Amino acid sequence: MRTQVGIIGAGPAGLLLSHLLHLRGISSVVLEKRSREYVERRVRAGVLEQGTVDTLVEAGVGERMLREGLPHHGIELRYGGAGHRIPFEKLVPGRSITVYGQQEVVKDLIAARLAAGGDVRFEVEDVALHSLESQPYITFGGERLDCDVIAGCDGFHGVSRPAIPEGVLSVFERDYPFAWLGILARVAPSSEELIYARTERGFALHSMRSPTVSRFYLQVPADARLEDWTDERIWAELRTRLETVPGFTLATGEIMERGITPMRGFVAEPMQYGRLYLAGDAAHIVPPTGAKGLNLAVADVRVLTEALAAYFADGSTGLLDGYSDACLKRVWRAQHFSWWMTTLLHTFEEDDPYARKLQLSYLDYVTSSEAAATTLAENYVGLPFDR
Ligand code: FAD
Ligand code: DHB
Repeated sequence: MRTQVGIIGAGPAGLLLSHLLHLRGISSVVLEKRSREYVERRVRAGVLEQGTVDTLVEAGVGERMLREGLPHHGIELRYGGAGHRIPFEKLVPGRSITVYGQQEVVKDLIAARLAAGGDVRFEVEDVALHSLESQPYITFGGERLDCDVIAGCDGFHGVSRPAIPEGVLSVFERDYPFAWLGILARVAPSSEELIYARTERGFALHSMRSPTVSRFYLQVPADARLEDWTDERIWAELRTRLETVPGFTLATGEIMERGITPMRGFVAEPMQYGRLYLAGDAAHIVPPTGAKGLNLAVADVRVLTEALAAYFADGSTGLLDGYSDACLKRVWRAQHFSWWMTTLLHTFEEDDPYARKLQLSYLDYVTSSEAAATTLAENYVGLPFDR
């Protein structure tokens, strides 16, 4: 079997790449380890930057997102007994975010690929990459797929990055001493906008998916176990951390899904080796506080699509050679923003009273200075793609 681009992983990165390449007349095959049901149900990100929304709309896969997604023009930072709104419409006019579940993006992309006769294979076993320096190929489940290039879009735990010979990649990492416990609940959101809450007991986030479904996250210790968190304990903790301003009460409901996510920053450089190009979580991870992971995957895929289009048009390799450098600028900006949001809002065990005072002082600055709030807002809605 032969294709132009062999894509490993049917997450947002792999599926969007396959779709954008199809629009440029470039063939691809997507190989996914999990079932279609599994990837369509996996609850993860929810915040789409302006540029991500624009990309999906331009690519013709934004129709349901525009209909069902929730446009947001601000977020709230809640701490010290008060809420402080960061108004995007004032600070970054014309730019906003859309709250739309990652699995809905994945569903829309799978539907678009299948409708166009795309080759997306689920539940493939034993994916392995070969001959990355020239004439690369992928083997899986007893089959062989020859390709001009391979796109490693298989997430942080995939096989693409480890297929790069030892000594080639430089890895930069930061582990945080806490995790996020996330839940999806059948209950109307208690707030119209996202609430990022900093308390002495730790961070909490109130997000949502629809008028009847809410999403919440709690900072928990890195070694927290799901079985220790009963529904009652989760709601009690969310109440304690969110009901900190007068008149706010948290509505509770049935918990439909729950999970614990470790917090980590990670970048592997360069994001390419021979004929293999890494995109999305396969190359980098951010702590979720800045809501950047999915958006970075989309940004990588945009760059890779342009580079592959130039290559398949006339054999030029300039853009492909510069792929990693072109992506890493944005990746590192997002790493910094995600680290910054994380340190601003979480409690660190090692923090002494002096460190806590500094954190609160910084929060006061961010919520009272227009310049500081603009820094938060323009990073949160996403820097334009042409930077
Ligand atoms: P993935 O979505 O991980 O997709 C990789 C795919 O490859 C998977 O389907 C996997 O099954 C498949 N795969 C793995 N190994 C193999 C193999 N050996 N063979 C074949 N296939 C394989 N980001 C945001 O932008 N905004 C947010 O609000 C946000 N919130 C988040 C909240 C949580 C709780 C979590 C966990 C993440 C969040 N993120 C957020 C991050 C975001 O979900 C990821 O950055 C995003 O999924 C990256 O997409 P991807 O396609 O690169 O990787
Ligand atoms: C969501 C996830 C995030 O990581 C974030 O910063 C904001 C919202 C969400 O899943 O809705």
